[in-house]
Amino acid sequence: MHDEQFPRGGPGAPWWDRLYETDRAEWIDFIDHPDPRLAERARRGLRALDRFQRASLAYRTFSRLALAEAGQQREPRILELGAGRGHLAEQLLRDHPTAHVTVSDISTDSVQAFRTGPLGDHPRVTTRVIDATAIDAPDHTWDVAVFTMSLHHLQPAQVRMVLREGTRAAHRLLIIDAWRHPAYLAIVPLLLLLGGATAAHDGTISLRKAYSPSALHALADDCGAPVHLHCRFHLPGYLVASASRSAQQLPGGTAATTAQNRDD
Ligand SMILES: C[S@@+](CC[C@H](N)C(=O)[O-])C[C@H]1O[C@@H](n2cnc3c(N)ncnc32)[C@H](O)[C@@H]1O
Repeated sequence: MHDEQFPRGGPGAPWWDRLYETDRAEWIDFIDHPDPRLAERARRGLRALDRFQRASLAYRTFSRLALAEAGQQREPRILELGAGRGHLAEQLLRDHPTAHVTVSDISTDSVQAFRTGPLGDHPRVTTRVIDATAIDAPDHTWDVAVFTMSLHHLQPAQVRMVLREGTRAAHRLLIIDAWRHPAYLAIVPLLLLLGGATAAHDGTISLRKAYSPSALHALADDCGAPVHLHCRFHLPGYLVASASRSAQQLPGGTAATTAQNRDD
C-alpha cells in the first residue's frame, strides 16, 4: 500500500473512518515558517495547545506515564522529542528529583525559547534541536524517549522512522497522542473556549489525523527494525504506545536486543 493511501485508522479501517480522515494542515505545522504571519499563527496554536494541556492536567499524566517507563532507575536519562513549549520537561524534573532530561524539538525557535527560559540553566537539562525521524545520537543514549501529541503531524513514512529511531536511541519509546474516535469531536467547543478559533481548528484536524492502534502496529511491523509495540487507551482520551526493540535469542543462548545490529 502506498503511503498516500495508508489510512490513519489502519489497513482495515471502515469506509466512514476513511471519510473522517483529513490531510489538511494545522496552524502548528507552520512553526518556523519563513512567512512571519504563518509562524506567529503557529506559535499561537502551540500556546493554545499548551493552555489546553495545563487545564486538562495532561503534563502530569504524561510525566507519570514516562517515569513509569523508566522503572526504578535512580537517575533516568529521558529524551523529550517535539517538546513544544517544554512544560512536560518541567513537570518531569519536578516529579523526579534525579532525572536528567534532554528537551528537544525540530523547531529552532522552540529550542531557543527553552534556552532562554527556566529550562535553560537547569543543571539536569540539556536542550537540543532533534528531528524525531533522524535522531543524531548513538544507540541507547537515553533510557526513555517520549513524544507527546505530535505523531499525527507526521506522515506514515515518518512514523516508521520515529519507531525505528526512537527505539534505537532510547531503550524505550513512549508515544502519547489523541485516541482516534469521532466521538472526541465533542471536545472541540472546549478547545474553542480555552484557545479560540486556532485551537478549535488544530484540535479538529488533530483528532481526524490521529493514528489508531492498528495503524501503528502496521507501521511498526514495516519499520525496518524488530520493534515490539504495545498500545493502550488512557483516560480521558489518549493513545499510549510503548515501543522497544524485540529481544532476540543469540546462538550462545544470551538474549540481546537487536538495536545495536541495525542501521550501522
Ligand atoms: C502539537 S505540538 C506538541 C507539543 C508538546 N509535545 C505537547 O504535548 O504539547 C507538536 C510538536 O512537534 C514538533 N515536531 C514536528 N515534527 C517533528 C519532528 N520530525 N521531530 C521533532 N519534533 C517535531 C513541532 O515542532 C511541535 O513542537
